[in-house]
Amino acid sequence: MTGKAKSVYVCSECGFESPKWFGKCPGCGKWNTMTEEIREPVRKTALTSARSSSPIRSIPISAISVTEEERYHTGMSELDRVLGGGIVKGSLILVSGEPGIGKSTILLQICGCLGQKLKILYVSGEESARQIKLRASRLGVESDNLYILTETDIQAVMEQIRLDKPDLFMIDSIQTMNFTDLNSSPGSVSQVRECTAAIMRTAKALEIPAIIVGHVNKDGAIAGPKVLEHIVDTVLYFEGDRQMSYRILRAVKNRYGSTNEIGVFDMAENGLCQVENPSLALLSGRPTGVSGTCVTCMIEGSRPILAEIQGLATATGYGTPRRTATGFDYNRMSLLLAVLEKRAGFYFANFDAYVNVVGGLRLDEPAGDLAVALSLVSSLKDKPINSKAIAFGEIGLAGELRSVTNIEARIGEADRLGFEKCILPYHCLSRISRHFDQIELIGVRDVRQAFEAAVQ
Ligand SMILES: Nc1ncnc2c1ncn2[C@@H]1O[C@H](COP(=O)(O)OP(=O)(O)OP(=O)(O)O)[C@@H](O)[C@H]1O
Ligand SMILES: [Mg+2]
Ligand SMILES: [Zn+2]
Repeated sequence: MTGKAKSVYVCSECGFESPKWFGKCPGCGKWNTMTEEIREPVRKTALTSARSSSPIRSIPISAISVTEEERYHTGMSELDRVLGGGIVKGSLILVSGEPGIGKSTILLQICGCLGQKLKILYVSGEESARQIKLRASRLGVESDNLYILTETDIQAVMEQIRLDKPDLFMIDSIQTMNFTDLNSSPGSVSQVRECTAAIMRTAKALEIPAIIVGHVNKDGAIAGPKVLEHIVDTVLYFEGDRQMSYRILRAVKNRYGSTNEIGVFDMAENGLCQVENPSLALLSGRPTGVSGTCVTCMIEGSRPILAEIQGLATATGYGTPRRTATGFDYNRMSLLLAVLEKRAGFYFANFDAYVNVVGGLRLDEPAGDLAVALSLVSSLKDKPINSKAIAFGEIGLAGELRSVTNIEARIGEADRLGFEKCILPYHCLSRISRHFDQIELIGVRDVRQAFEAAVQ
């Protein structure tokens, strides 16, 4: 080894590097995320040996033979949908989410299904073999093709994979893996990066797909998977309230399928169950006859999902009114309140306002504006919105309602679930060519009209 080891400061959230320490990361603006790491100079041997074993050669694209992209079906159609049709051979998938959300659970369930015909190696650096066995029994996972390895040394793990040649391997979690040549601690940015790169090389060289778990940590003690996102092929995020049983799996990056596709699961004693009719599940237990709730239809990936939006407006005790939004953008909510005041004459200046999207969903398309506005106005006026009505539409700064995309899919979903009224922007009406027998379509031009139609 030549040269001297030097110390660098690396942001655990975004991977920003600097020779100097900062309290606030110049890369992403987060506080207290810079941690010191000792960098060894690059080892010559590793570089030269890689060169000599594989001479660099470019090939014409026409000379590359392709067979139909091979995918393994996981046995869970919700998961397959998120993955874009199944696990692609040689791909690297990152599953991340908050502690306890169900990452290890879904991995074992995949083992349960794919283990019937494929050889799988499950590497855990977090739990003992006994603990994994206990969970597997609880989930009803049984397979003679499933191998467990409890190990944290990534080089030993890769060696084992080369020996075993499984059809699929899983690493739970990347933060516990350790590259002994680096002297920073497991979970630091350089460790995570090196370990992922090692996994990537093995996955691509042997054409074995790999699934890795990455933790997210709010206080930044562990490297955020943001650094990993660039390396891997697919990034799946587990979302949802831990208190509630619904879990939403979302593809935020996918080299082999579309993003924004979601899968909905329900966490039960025997593992994650697929929710095949999410609209129905998310609307169950909805209060009727009370003010401050409105149903909308959002498009998640390729499918429409009905969601309940709750709004609450209460008189401000003292000082400036509070505004809180859960599952909805805070700034968008402030903007909607401003439009409601200025353009529609609904005054929120002395009211605290809260918005919540029920079921842990995130409503981040403009089509959700109208339902948010209606739920707030309904609460302000204490007038319940017709429980058989849904509303969608984008609200412009002049208070006008603007047309949105996927109109027929949205109406169709509401119709299927027995809704009787759909309040939508007037301009959408001319773009509907299909006939709906049950649901009445009410085109409105502004929020006031929409509210009047909605309370009837
Ligand atoms: N007996 C049980 N019945 C129902 N649900 C359970 C049971 N045991 C565990 N769970 C659920 O499983 C969740 C833990 O799942 P899992 O261990 O897969 O999470 P994880 O994302 O891997 O967590 P970590 O980040 O700690 O590794 C718990 O939050 C709980 O909701
Ligand atoms: Mg786990
Ligand atoms: Zn940063």
